[in-house]
Amino acid sequence: MAINYEQTFSEIPLAQTNLDAYWLPFTSNRQFKDNPRIIVSAEECYYYDADGRKIFDAMSGLWCSGFGHNRPEIAEAVNQQLLNLDYAPAFQFAHPLAIQLANRVKEITPKGLDQVFFTNSGSESVDTALKMARAYWRAKGQPEKSRLISRAKGYHGANYGGTSVGGIEPNRAPYGELMPADHLPHTLLPQNAFSRGLPENGIELADVLEELIDSHGASHIAAVIVEPFSGSAGVIIPPEGYLQRLRQICDHHDILLIFDEVISGFGRTGASFGADFFGVVPDIMCLAKGLTNGAVPMGAVVASKMIYETFMNANTPDHMIEFPHGYTYSGHPVACAAGLAAMDIFEKEKLTDKAKELAPHFEGLIHGLKGVKYITDIRNIGLAGALQIEPVSDDPVRRPFEIALACWEKGLYVRWAGDTICMSPLFISEKDQLDEAFNILSDCLSRMV
Ligand SMILES: Cc1ncc(COP(=O)(O)O)c(C=O)c1O
Repeated sequence: MAINYEQTFSEIPLAQTNLDAYWLPFTSNRQFKDNPRIIVSAEECYYYDADGRKIFDAMSGLWCSGFGHNRPEIAEAVNQQLLNLDYAPAFQFAHPLAIQLANRVKEITPKGLDQVFFTNSGSESVDTALKMARAYWRAKGQPEKSRLISRAKGYHGANYGGTSVGGIEPNRAPYGELMPADHLPHTLLPQNAFSRGLPENGIELADVLEELIDSHGASHIAAVIVEPFSGSAGVIIPPEGYLQRLRQICDHHDILLIFDEVISGFGRTGASFGADFFGVVPDIMCLAKGLTNGAVPMGAVVASKMIYETFMNANTPDHMIEFPHGYTYSGHPVACAAGLAAMDIFEKEKLTDKAKELAPHFEGLIHGLKGVKYITDIRNIGLAGALQIEPVSDDPVRRPFEIALACWEKGLYVRWAGDTICMSPLFISEKDQLDEAFNILSDCLSRMV
């Protein structure tokens, strides 16, 4: 059936849209199909739904479109690229934009992270990083260094490796046996509740890594993977000094440190990367989302020269593949075009500074909700924040779900995840737009039962 481009999707009555075939990801499909939420267009900080309603996007899509929706610069770059080179083989060949974007990402990411490997999503970035870490030790002649350590409540995507190191139990439970991985404790401590920014207490939680090293032996551990702050589990921020401590322990025992910066990368904390915010440089960094401002699926893994050189110095003939890994669409020309345009916007508009400037206002608004019934914690970092909501008996999801739906009805999109309501507004949001968003949120919270 030909698509009728003359008719916009918003003009198609919802009743004519057959939802049956569509199995939505990470969605309560039954509830959704009873009460669909169909987004048909976007502009700057707003979505428009199938009923023509204007909705403030307080989540940057899914933490990814912080630079503004429908940026014409990205649309133009993608259009041009599709007319010039729609696809080039990713294996054994390259094209100019992949080379340019690799250099751009190298320049933007912290010093010491020099080698850029492209993927198509955050999940692929994580699985790539885990394979890279294990293969690195094999290339060094230490194949027994293969165990992976992550953190409870961490989210590292939906692929097999990422699910294995992931620490959100409901995301693991349906799948039976996963890859072996140890989980450090999460850093949510009751004494840190309602901290503004970095919590004070809990640096000693990093020392549990020493205990895991004692029990397995450092010679069996390949890498530790953590998000600089956990986004999906409800904006859990590590206590002061915690990531520095992890870095020291990894250095001391010769274990790689991987930062999953899929959410924290490209300005979310008010610094370019979580690594910059916390002043800790990992050996491998996972990226996605902001890399193209969410416009085209793309991810990247950025590794240190030491890791890359270890692969390159393997004692094999030059025509042999050093790292047998990659995707048909790694460094896709269209994604690279979007990525280069997004990086131009990110740098020219100094969006990290914008996020940093807006962050105190956001902090004031979110912590202004302290005292509202059923809110048990409020957490924030840069332009990310979460409210933790007291569960109804043994159902932690119900209240956040009801609050988020009430907000949606009133023209505000926030995300419900577990027992939290999350917000990650666009960097280009205006203060009065945030004020209005919090008025709606506050109104919906006051009706919570
Ligand atoms: C820290 C982190 N890692 C990985 C992912 C997975 O990214 P994707 O959904 O693009 O596969 C996410 C997604 O939110 C994430 O927050």
